[in-house]
Amino acid sequence: MHNPVDLEISRRDLLVATAASVAITAAPSVAGAQTPTPETPFSSKVSFTVNGEVRDLDIDTRTSLLDALREHLHLTGTKKGCDHGQCGACTVIVDGRRINSCLTLAVMHEGDTITTIEGLGKPGNLHPMQAAFVKHDGFQCGYCTPGQICSAVAVLEEIRANVPSHVSGDLTVEARVSPDEIRERMSGNICRCGAYSNILDAINEVAGRQA
Ligand code: FES
Ligand code: FES
Repeated sequence: MHNPVDLEISRRDLLVATAASVAITAAPSVAGAQTPTPETPFSSKVSFTVNGEVRDLDIDTRTSLLDALREHLHLTGTKKGCDHGQCGACTVIVDGRRINSCLTLAVMHEGDTITTIEGLGKPGNLHPMQAAFVKHDGFQCGYCTPGQICSAVAVLEEIRANVPSHVSGDLTVEARVSPDEIRERMSGNICRCGAYSNILDAINEVAGRQA
C-alpha cells in the first residue's frame, strides 16, 4: 500500500516533469528556424515605370503592388478597399491591361509600365474618362472612382481590341460597346454608393466619342 506522502511527491514530480517538457517544446530550436528580420532576407530590388517615370525600389518581397504604390511611392490615388481582389478599388493599368494591384506582388513587375489614376490626367487636363465621370456624377464618396476610371479606360481598349466577354453573343463578329458589355466588363468594380447608372452614362459617352 502507498504511503500518502509518497503519492504527494509523485504528483509533484509529475507536474515538474510536465512543465519542463512544455518549456522545451515551446523553446525555439537553435539549429532550426531563423528569426526573420524584416529588411535583409526578404527584400529585393525592382524597377518599373509608373506614370511615365522609372521608379526603383528595394522592398520586402511580400509587398503587394498596391502597397508599393501607396506606401512607398505615395501614389495614394489607388485605393485599398477589400485587399482581397473582390472590390476593384485598387485597379491600375499594367502594360495596357487592368489588374487588381492588391493581388500581385510588386517584385513581379520588373520592367512593366504601370498607369495609376494620377497618370491618366491632371486637374485642368483631365483624361476624357475622368471628365465624363465628373460631368455625369459618376461617383458620390469617390472611394471606388480611381479604380472605376482605370477599369473603364481599359474596358474600352479591350472592346476595341475585340476581346470577347462573357456576354459577347457571337465571337465571329467584332465586339461592340453596349450597356450589357460595359456592365459585364465593369462587374469587378464595386460601388458601395450605387453610382452605377451614372458610371455607365460616363463610359457610354466616352465610347461614343471614340467610336
Ligand atoms: Fe484590391 Fe479590393 S482592394 S480588389
Ligand atoms: Fe462611393 Fe463608389 S462612389 S463607393
